[in-house]
Amino acid sequence: MALVNMRDMLNHAYRGGYAVAAFDLVSLDFLEAIIKAAEASRAPVILSLAESHFEYFDFELAMAATEAAAMRTWAPVAIHLDHGASLESAVKAIRLGCNGVMVDASTRPFEENLERTRAVVDMAHACGVPVEGELGYVAGVEGEDAERHPGEVIYTAPEEATRYVRGTGVDCLAVSVGTVHGRMRGEPQLDFDRLEQINRALGIPLVVHGGTGLSDAQFRRLIERGVTKINYYTALSDAAAERIRENVVSAEPGGYTALVRGMQEPMRAEMQRCIRLWGSENRAEEVLAGCEPWQPVDHVIIYNLPEGTDTTAMMAEGRRVLGAIPGVREVVTGKAVAEGAAYRYCWNVRFCHPAVIDSYRDHPDHIRFADTVFRPAAADRLSIDFRVLRD
Ligand code: 13P
Repeated sequence: MALVNMRDMLNHAYRGGYAVAAFDLVSLDFLEAIIKAAEASRAPVILSLAESHFEYFDFELAMAATEAAAMRTWAPVAIHLDHGASLESAVKAIRLGCNGVMVDASTRPFEENLERTRAVVDMAHACGVPVEGELGYVAGVEGEDAERHPGEVIYTAPEEATRYVRGTGVDCLAVSVGTVHGRMRGEPQLDFDRLEQINRALGIPLVVHGGTGLSDAQFRRLIERGVTKINYYTALSDAAAERIRENVVSAEPGGYTALVRGMQEPMRAEMQRCIRLWGSENRAEEVLAGCEPWQPVDHVIIYNLPEGTDTTAMMAEGRRVLGAIPGVREVVTGKAVAEGAAYRYCWNVRFCHPAVIDSYRDHPDHIRFADTVFRPAAADRLSIDFRVLRD
């Protein structure tokens, strides 16, 4: 289990002058290829799921697989919501297991972007989850990722970036310095002076979207100027598609598995090339040593109720009300198997991070439910918050 705090991961990269790859995944093949690339390169990596891609796969199912992969690998990973459109998207992503979220209100006027971002930061920080904001606009040129980013590039203004970061409290900032989402047409012109000014003014990890198509020298110059997270997708998608096209013409007539055979290999090769170029190769051990492991906390209550209480209704209300509080992953309600048990009922509320112990206790929905429904009935109870330890 090597899920680590993404804030620590990015701060480590910022101090170390290298960048972590954030590869967007759209299927199990992508997920497996990313994990294999991270392990083979002994590198930290971000498993990134873009809301703009959710029409291609079921986010909830993909998160179950992504979290299982993160638990199984020894390589340090974080799970990130890419281009989240709203507060609700961020709450849902955290509930499903993301330990980093991006809020993308970059198409909105400055003040609105600031306000929307701040609302996500307030919620996510109360859950221990770091937030990426975007200022300026990274447009798209061509390809399935580009299609989600219509319009023209708007460059990030350094003075606005300072106001935005101070006003929102974001942990890292996606900047627009001339990259575009999707396939490049010609060599992009990047504004390194602007990036340098932003980096000097902010001193926090910077993020570049639209990694596909940049030259090795451009990547190096971006990283020298504070870029510590690079979002990368279209080149991986194109590498996979190329292998599928080869399978179509060369394979014996076959079904789905014959068509997708071997598609992880070119993706993995491209990922390992990026990891090497961006300086995160062979960093896994130091990242594991220097970052907080991402461990949930279970809030457990065992209790008794007076005869005649409608336990079913109370538990259903609790699951619904408490399960919607940000940072709560799951609410399990139970009844003792043995008739004569000293305590006959239990709650098991799973929090994504220890920070949720406080924000959950103080949340108005919890206070209302606890003070008016649960505590008056369940006077006889014991509770504990414990960190889930695996290995
Ligand atoms: P590319 O598809 O251009 O690599 O960009 C990916 C990205 O920025 C996702 O957020």
